[in-house]
Amino acid sequence: MMSFICSIFAAFFSAMNYQVTITETLQRSLLVDASSANLAEDNIYKRYRACDIVLDDGDFQNVEIAVNEVSGANGLDGVNGQDGYDGVNGHYGQIGLYKPIKPIKPIEPISNKPIEPKPAWPTTIFYKSPSHDFNLLHGDTFDLLPQFNFQFDMIFADPPYFLSSGGISVQSGKVVCVDKGDWDKSMSQEDINAFNLKWLSLCREKLKDNGTIWISGTYHNIFSVANCLTQLGYKILNVITWAKTNPPPNISCRYFTYSTEFIIWARKKEKVPHYYNYELMKHINGDKQMTDVWRLPAIAPWEKSCTKHPTQKPLGLLSRIIMASTEPGAWILDPFAGSGTTGIAANLLGRRFLGIEREEEYATISKARREEIENNKTFVTYKRKIPDIVKAEDTQKDCFTCKEPMIETLPFLGEVEVQPDGVYLDSITKR
Ligand SMILES: C[S@@+](CC[C@H](N)C(=O)[O-])C[C@H]1O[C@@H](n2cnc3c(N)ncnc32)[C@H](O)[C@@H]1O
Repeated sequence: MMSFICSIFAAFFSAMNYQVTITETLQRSLLVDASSANLAEDNIYKRYRACDIVLDDGDFQNVEIAVNEVSGANGLDGVNGQDGYDGVNGHYGQIGLYKPIKPIKPIEPISNKPIEPKPAWPTTIFYKSPSHDFNLLHGDTFDLLPQFNFQFDMIFADPPYFLSSGGISVQSGKVVCVDKGDWDKSMSQEDINAFNLKWLSLCREKLKDNGTIWISGTYHNIFSVANCLTQLGYKILNVITWAKTNPPPNISCRYFTYSTEFIIWARKKEKVPHYYNYELMKHINGDKQMTDVWRLPAIAPWEKSCTKHPTQKPLGLLSRIIMASTEPGAWILDPFAGSGTTGIAANLLGRRFLGIEREEEYATISKARREEIENNKTFVTYKRKIPDIVKAEDTQKDCFTCKEPMIETLPFLGEVEVQPDGVYLDSITKR
C-alpha cells in the first residue's frame, strides 16, 4: 500500500497553532482553521465528509490522524511562510489544489519584431496513421476547430464533466483521489454553460447537414449540454443511459452506488434525416429492438495496454455508437480525444478519425494505441474482444467496408482517395 504523509497546518484566531498529520493512501494536504486540537481534528473529519467519505472505523482502515501543536504565523505554514503550503510534499493546503511551487518567470521584454501572419493551417499534425485514417491534432479545440472547413459524418465528444473538486474514492481497496486533472476542475454553472455552448456551436459547423453528435456526461454537465444543444438548433434523438455492469462501490454507504452515465444523441438539423443502423442494433440485441438503456461494462484491463487515461471510455461503448450511427468510411471527429478511444473504435470498424487533444501526454497515449493496432494480430484480437463487433460480423459481413470510392480533401491531409474495397490505404484493406 502506498502511503503518504500529509501535513495540515491549523491557523488560529488565538496564538495556538496545530499541525494535523494524516497518514493514508492518498497524497493530499488540507489547510485547517481551528482554535483547539479537538476542533482541528473535527474539522478534518468534516472536510472528509464533504468529500463523500465517512471516517468511521470500519470505513477507512488506512487513515491515522495525529494532531500536534506547532508554531507559526496565522494562516502561514510556519516553515515556508506560504499560505497553506504544506512544506513537506510541495502541495498547497486546499482540497483539489495540488500546485507544485514554480519559480516566478522573469517578464520578457516586449519585442519590436513584426508579428508573423498566421498560416492557413498552423497546426502541425501530431500524428497521422500510415493509412491516414487516424489523425490527431495537439492543441486547444477552441482554437483549432475554427481553422478548417471540413465537415464530418459524426462527432463523439466526451467533454470535461467538471467533477474534480478534491473528492476521494476507493479503487482496488485503496483510497484514491478522484481528481482527473486541471482540465476537469469544477466551475460555476454559468461557466459550464458558456463552455458547452461554445464548443457545441463550433462542432455544429463541423457536422454535415445529415450528421449526428453524441455527447457523454453525468448529471454534473449533461443538463447543460442538453440545453445548449436545443438552443443551438440541434434535435435530440435519444438520451442513452449507460448502465455499468461493474460499477465501483460507494464506500460512504449513504447513497445509491453511482453506476450510470448518459450519452445524448442529437442530429444537426431538425428536418434533415439522420442515419441509424436499426437492423444491426436489433441483431446485436438478440433480434429485439435495442432500447436506450445499454448494459455495458466499464473499461477492461486489456484496454489499458498503452497506460490509461483517467476517464478513458471502453471500446465496446464507442463501437456500438459508431456502428449505430455511421456507415463504413465515415469521418468521425472527437474534439476532446483523450486517449483516442473514439479513433481506435473507428478504425477497428473501417471508419476514419480526426481527434483534438490539449494534453501532449494523452495525445501520446492515443498515438501508441493506434500504433498498437497496426499489428494485424492485435487488430483482430481487439475486434474479437468486443462482443458487439463479433455479433455484427456474423450478420453484416460488409459492415466494415466502404462501397463507393471517394475523394476527400482535408486541410490537414491533402487529397486522399478511398478505395471501393474498404478503407483507402493498404494496411487496413489487407485485414
Ligand atoms: C473526458 S476526457 C476524454 C477521454 C476520452 N474519451 C478517452 O476515452 O480517452 C476529456 C479530454 O479532453 C481534453 N480537453 C479538455 N479541454 C480541452 C480543450 N479545450 N481542447 C482540447 N482538449 C481538451 C482533456 O485533456 C481530456 O483528455
